[in-house]
Amino acid sequence: MADEPLVLGIETSCDETGVGVVRGHTLLADAVASSVDDHARFGGVVPEIASRAHLEAMVPTIERALAHAGVAATDLDAIAVTAGPGLAGALLVGVSAAKAYAYALGKPLYGVNHLASHICVDQLEHGPLPEPTMALLVSGGHSSLLLAPDITSDIRPLGATIDDAAGEAFDKVARVLGLGFPGGPAIDRLAREGDAGAIRFPRGLTGPRDAPYDFSFSGLKTAVARWVETRRNAGDDVPVADVAASFQEAVTDVLTRKAIRACRDEGVDHLMIGGGVAANSRLRAMAEERCAAAGLTLRVPRPGLCTDNGAMVAALGAEMVTRGRAPSALDLPADSSLPVTRTHVAAAH
Ligand code: KG4
Ligand code: ZN
Repeated sequence: MADEPLVLGIETSCDETGVGVVRGHTLLADAVASSVDDHARFGGVVPEIASRAHLEAMVPTIERALAHAGVAATDLDAIAVTAGPGLAGALLVGVSAAKAYAYALGKPLYGVNHLASHICVDQLEHGPLPEPTMALLVSGGHSSLLLAPDITSDIRPLGATIDDAAGEAFDKVARVLGLGFPGGPAIDRLAREGDAGAIRFPRGLTGPRDAPYDFSFSGLKTAVARWVETRRNAGDDVPVADVAASFQEAVTDVLTRKAIRACRDEGVDHLMIGGGVAANSRLRAMAEERCAAAGLTLRVPRPGLCTDNGAMVAALGAEMVTRGRAPSALDLPADSSLPVTRTHVAAAH
């Protein structure tokens, strides 16, 4: 609808330079330039390389998004940008670019939360999010269960990882198996040829006295590394596909079990899964099965909208405009550890 806000969103919290354009809940453009190949030989994201890549890609990616959406910058109603959490130098590139465009165009600026954006993006695919929404957020830096009565102003953390994030565990196990970086997509692919029941790896924090909504993946990662090492030391072949499938099964089992329990305990009848790990095919299938059995509705964006992108930032920016939230000031800081409870950084009154 023409009266819905037209918003440009900029995402530079990690290694993807993402620029999206949305009108309300409608996705018009989603341009992403990734520096992932530049980091592969280091086995992880190198912040300085990511920042420089953002700087080179920023303006061309904005221009590509606007051209694809078929809109002029002057038509925009607002500019939204990831203010945090993320890599400080990388965030600064996006925040600086957003300020420059907002100032030059005379448009309001919204510094928004990366994690809230991962949830809000689902509105572009499946329409308005129910309130409250239960969200399982699983990415390279975070694994959290979040209850969101209002995605623009009220997000309540129920639990989070006490050590490694789910994506981090995928990346580390992939390194042990010699699968390269990033590990998630590689394990996902290889696991399809493996037997998920071959090895029973530990399910962290699932005992009766453990925190019901917290996660721990570091014991699992160590168990996989030990199992592989023992085989190698004995001179035996490592059944890499079976290890990948069994590890993936342990992660997805814990994630879905805890998320469904949170829905039941909080009386929420649907579950949203977001973040890079939500692109995982086994997690999607298991969540679908278990939600159906529990009578819950599952919402997961398509894989391209689960990994970092600018459309998710634009989606949250548009929701901020629609709900009349206060814009950010032009001296908006980038905050590498912005808590999930701060959905956006509003100007001080
Ligand atoms: O949300 P995201 O793109 O960036 C962060 O905010 O961290 O998530 C990146 C993480 C990486 O750890 C990557 O290995 C993981 O998401 N990932 C996957 C898959 N695709 C990406 N993990 C499992 N299966 C996948 N298909
Ligand atoms: Zn992310």
